Amino acid sequence: MNNIGRAVGLVVGGAVSFAVFETARGEPKFYSNILMPTLQKIISAETAHNLAVKAMKYAPVKKCNNLDVLRTKVWGKDFSNPVGIAAGFDKHAEAMTGLSRIGFGFIEIGSVTPLPQDGNDKPRVFRLSEDEAVINRYGFNSVGHEVVASRLKTWRDYDKNTILGVNLGKNKTSPDHKGDYVSGIRNLGEFADYIVINVSSPNTPGLRKLQGETFLRDLLYDIKCAKDEEKFPRNPILLVKIAPDLDDKDLNDIANVITDKTYGVDGLIISNTTISRPDHLVNHNKNETGGLSGKPVKNMSTSLVRKMYSLTKGNIPIVGVGGIASGADAYEKIKAGASLVQFYTSLIYNGPPIVSTIKSELAELLEKDGYSCVNEAIGADHLK
Ligand code: FNR
Repeated sequence: MNNIGRAVGLVVGGAVSFAVFETARGEPKFYSNILMPTLQKIISAETAHNLAVKAMKYAPVKKCNNLDVLRTKVWGKDFSNPVGIAAGFDKHAEAMTGLSRIGFGFIEIGSVTPLPQDGNDKPRVFRLSEDEAVINRYGFNSVGHEVVASRLKTWRDYDKNTILGVNLGKNKTSPDHKGDYVSGIRNLGEFADYIVINVSSPNTPGLRKLQGETFLRDLLYDIKCAKDEEKFPRNPILLVKIAPDLDDKDLNDIANVITDKTYGVDGLIISNTTISRPDHLVNHNKNETGGLSGKPVKNMSTSLVRKMYSLTKGNIPIVGVGGIASGADAYEKIKAGASLVQFYTSLIYNGPPIVSTIKSELAELLEKDGYSCVNEAIGADHLK
């Protein structure tokens, strides 16, 4: 080999070794400034998603120490920290172990539909890098209850402690939406610490209308009956996930339903993706059909958390989600009224080290303001 060949080999070898070393080390800046943007240039959003789920099985980044100030208790359940992975990343229950190892305080899988279905045609996920956002129209691609139940059973045999949420959807062509959710409770409830009734995905025709008061009462009544009948040992609690595109009347109606003890709703997840398109979006993908997530949803969802916390007088725990990419973003949601927070889109742009970053920044902010635990800060804005 001539000198040029040796030099090129040295540079390429050095670059690869550096990349492998930094990937394993989990250096946040390496992920957000080099690794993730490079991957985004060479592979599509959906391929990147699939690879990330597979990689998560091996948890490439070590878990950071849990910080005492972040320990919290909600619905009588102990969380090592209040930061969870939102639904949509691990749709098919493949990566619970890795997600827990990289430091999430709780994990939500799904949405899962009763029968397997392919979802919408590809492409169906679009990055809006300059906007730190994503548009997706997956349309509930799912392996179905049976496969997910068997994966969760195997996993629960050796992990009894991780707090798991199971997010339920309905099949696109199902004529019986109530039956779809009820079968989700019956088939997957035994593995869950919480169950999410997702009536807010924009990519399944007619789904969002289930947020309307009459539909919601009707649906939740059947769900509560099924849950009461099953008497699952983990006693999963029931959450409803709502859209950020609701007006004040919709919010009032939902608050009335969920505070009515008849329906046994224990909490809300606020919010799903938005169908709106803020004027400030710049990326060429901004007009793709689907749900927009990430930074542009941040203030919309925080404002909904704030309104719902007021409407429910702080009596219904809220999981705040939408555009969280830093400890300050998480803290904002908590002070607006969230007991727990979740994120997904910022994981796409920053990779696994973002989990530790958000947690340590949040711990620092809580301590700086003199709080000894998360609970003390929930809804702090409402005391001003
Ligand atoms: C989602 N989200 C989602 N939500 C849900 O309830 N069921 C689902 O199947 C999915 N699927 C999904 C796929 C993709 C690619 C994205 C980006 C999002 C919504 C997600 O859980 C969350 O509510 C929003 O994305 C807002 O949070 P972030 O992403 O801004 O942190």
